[in-house]
Amino acid sequence: DERTFVMAKPDAVQRGLIGEIIQRLEERGLKLVGAKFMQIDEELAHEHYGEHEGKPFFEGLVEFITSGPVMAMVWEGADATRQVRQMMGETDPADAQPGTIRGDLGLDLGHNVIHGSDHEDEGANEREIDLFFDDEELVDYERADAVWVYEDE
Ligand code: GTP
Ligand code: MG
Repeated sequence: DERTFVMAKPDAVQRGLIGEIIQRLEERGLKLVGAKFMQIDEELAHEHYGEHEGKPFFEGLVEFITSGPVMAMVWEGADATRQVRQMMGETDPADAQPGTIRGDLGLDLGHNVIHGSDHEDEGANEREIDLFFDDEELVDYERADAVWVYEDE
């Protein structure tokens, strides 16, 4: 199954929303295969958000993402990257539908609670997983309920 990179951003950690985010992904049937509570340094921030370098919001974005701890995670499941992006909602929480993570938990573009790999950027999930995790930090196992989540398990 596909793996994707997900991160509870510093605002989510400070607001006590790590559990809420994990719960939503868990209940959907996605499988947590890696997690790391950490603080992102300047260098990692520049690598992770390299595609936005030079944009007017870039400095603020780096400042925010390095401003406090984050919960970096890898989640696995059928079509996981696209499914997580759907669950996150639009980048700007003001435009995100109710029922999505950003639409339910955020109000501000700069503090939008969660990051997930872009499914429209081919290979972004693998690149981001490699950037944050060593292979041995990811765990292979079966969720006991997989036969109930998937028809063909
Ligand atoms: P990420 O999961 O964080 O990558 O969000 P995204 O993929 O939905 O959006 P994108 O990669 O385009 O932008 C990265 C982050 O930069 C967003 O999550 C926003 O917090 C921030 N951002 C994007 N566009 C703007 C903008 O126009 N102004 C400001 N202030 N922040 C922005
Ligand atoms: Mg992005």
